[in-house]
Amino acid sequence: MRYLVTGGLGFIGSNFLHRLVPSRPGDSFVNVDCCSYAANPKSVESLEGCANYRFVRADLAEAAEVREVVGAVEPDVVVHFAAESHVDRSIRGPESFLKSNVVGTFNLLEAVRERWGARRDGVRFHHVSTDEVFGSLGAEGAFNEETPYDPSSPYSATKAASDHLVRAWHRTFGIPVTISNCSNNYGPRQHPEKLMPLMIMNAAAGKPLPVYGQGANVRDWLHVEDHCAAIELIVDKGTPGQTYNVGGHGERTNMQVVDAICEAVAKETGRSLASVRDQIRFVQDRPGHDFRYAIDPRRIERELQWSPRWSFEDGLRDTVRWYLANDAWCASAVNEEYHAWTQTHYGTSQTEGQTS
Ligand code: DAU
Repeated sequence: MRYLVTGGLGFIGSNFLHRLVPSRPGDSFVNVDCCSYAANPKSVESLEGCANYRFVRADLAEAAEVREVVGAVEPDVVVHFAAESHVDRSIRGPESFLKSNVVGTFNLLEAVRERWGARRDGVRFHHVSTDEVFGSLGAEGAFNEETPYDPSSPYSATKAASDHLVRAWHRTFGIPVTISNCSNNYGPRQHPEKLMPLMIMNAAAGKPLPVYGQGANVRDWLHVEDHCAAIELIVDKGTPGQTYNVGGHGERTNMQVVDAICEAVAKETGRSLASVRDQIRFVQDRPGHDFRYAIDPRRIERELQWSPRWSFEDGLRDTVRWYLANDAWCASAVNEEYHAWTQTHYGTSQTEGQTS
């Protein structure tokens, strides 16, 4: 099989490639990425020597580039991770989200439609999406595959649009698609603009830990390896046209997550818990901040026998250890662009030196 994986220099895409490339030597994998600020070549360094892996730089927002790469690769399977994914950045500048998430998905669907022609057997287009398309929950309930779309942020609105495009290309043109809507991922190789790596890296560096509002918002945490296992199963065995919600029964308030990170960092570095917790700062809340996400994953559990292997506690400890042990990766992520972002978004608080 020939796989075309978009966004493979990003967090989830690179973890997916780490899972599949070594375990499927008879298949070939082309990683297509536009090398945006969030792409990190270090995330796939160890795959570069693999005979069945290749990287191609192309921008999905450019139709001609997409057509060229799809024509050259002639993929049997497309796994579409590429997306602008950070809610806060989408609030400050939505345009790149429309280009990448909406136009990029449209161009990819069109290129695949042209390439596959009438072929419907042995091909698959898998679209990786988010639970944020469903909007916000109150204290009760969980999103299932029938929950109506109600996105809040520019980011989630563009992901919702891309999901609709993918479904339309199935219903209208018969492209064999599957979609997964997943909750918050954590684990190795995540860009430090996101909550977990931000808190781990700042906690270890003695920098402030910026909690939005009171830290009462709830997210449903899933280890990235469990998410990638789910995607692998959907691609192999999922029903064309079907959507699968993927979540780890891992609901935590943001304060619970930050407290757990403080504990793990204190333990791993030998510092006192009180000194790490002293770094917590309550900062201005995100506009339109969704209160709670929770996934009902019963369809994928029942139909594809998927279940998460990582407990939140083990996954978090392992994740903290990964960031503490991978200085070179962390240094490459905390580049000039990242400093500019933290300065714009958090002001001087993130550029302070040691707080303790
Ligand atoms: O639910 C799936 C989604 O999870 C994905 O589709 C998104 O691409 C991914 O970014 C993530 O969205 P969130 O907005 O939930 O993730 P983020 O890491 O930005 O924030 C998690 C929670 O932590 C959220 O309630 C906001 C809060 N937060 C975040 C940051 C960056 C803080 O309190 N302080 C911060 O500095």
